Amino acid sequence: MFSHALALRTNSLRRSLLRGTALTALALCSAAALAADLPKVVILATGGTIAGAGAEATNSATYQAAKVPVDKLIAGIPQLGKVAEVRGEQVFQVASESLRNENLVALAKRVSALSKQKDVDGIVITHGTDTAEETAYFLNLVVASDKPIVVVASMRPGTAMSADGQLNLLNAVGVAGSSDARGKGVLVVMNDEINSGRDVSKAVNIRVDAFRSPWGALGMVVEGRNYWFRRLDKRHTVNSEFNIDQIDSLPLVEIAYAAGNANPTAYRALAQSGAKALIHAGPGNGSVAAGVVPTLRELRGQGVHIIRSSHVNAGGFVLRNAEQPDDQYDWVVAHDLNPQKARILASVALTKTQDSKELQRIFMQY
Ligand code: DGL
Repeated sequence: MFSHALALRTNSLRRSLLRGTALTALALCSAAALAADLPKVVILATGGTIAGAGAEATNSATYQAAKVPVDKLIAGIPQLGKVAEVRGEQVFQVASESLRNENLVALAKRVSALSKQKDVDGIVITHGTDTAEETAYFLNLVVASDKPIVVVASMRPGTAMSADGQLNLLNAVGVAGSSDARGKGVLVVMNDEINSGRDVSKAVNIRVDAFRSPWGALGMVVEGRNYWFRRLDKRHTVNSEFNIDQIDSLPLVEIAYAAGNANPTAYRALAQSGAKALIHAGPGNGSVAAGVVPTLRELRGQGVHIIRSSHVNAGGFVLRNAEQPDDQYDWVVAHDLNPQKARILASVALTKTQDSKELQRIFMQY
């Protein structure tokens, strides 16, 4: 009797399934199947304009950064659910100019820990544009993972007309979930472009196409598809000798900006504040005014490293021993790194070595 009733019920279930609820079952199965296939991406939110809010839709440049929480950012882009299984963590909620070295270390440790998890395929960091280039380069140097790690920002707050943050974030999650983005180093995805975290910097601070790499972008994202054109040649991530798992703090490195009429005052004050290295942000080929050379040589003699970089806009390139006898002065050149990136690399390198020849090798390889 029991088996007969069961058979009847199963048949009736089968018929109702066939009669239309099958669509629901199919939808459920395909949703589950889809979800099972979607990459798992974690969004680490730090603040910035992408989390900003302005009073009016016409406020594209007047707004408060670091207001919108990560869950609201995610909820505001329903299309994310078709691209990846996404979850968010609010690591900080600050304007990026206020990030400190200890914040960079904490963020990198979180990225490193997540990258080791089997249930994480890629990581996105939402960030302010002001120092996104520094954070992206730092992660590129110290996170030993070939999983896609993508820094994303926006030039306009989500409350503004023609805001850029939502598409930037959708693209960033898509790239972070892409197998073809593995092993390419930390990436910065904005304005449909995929740039290397090493090369990219904020070149114009009032336009949507703000970020530029002097040697060109690595690729583009168009309607959710990645198109790659080049790879980063410098050492990064799994090929880096630096690992955040062995770094708990960063030595103090300061930047002194030089133009015409340069004086030695700032360099001396920064050295007295405890800087282990000074980044000379010079014009042209990282040029040093004749009146500043004696102070830099004196500070080098006191054990402070002197690193010549260039603040030219579209991409500096400081050649060793070209206009300054770097060998004789025991100075280091920052190669093509701008001053803010030179500060990041010097801070990381000094966790491992104080030797100026080793520092120069590191500046040429990273
Ligand atoms: N205060 C700037 C920052 O958080 C806002 C600029 C932006 O995020 O685009 O970097």
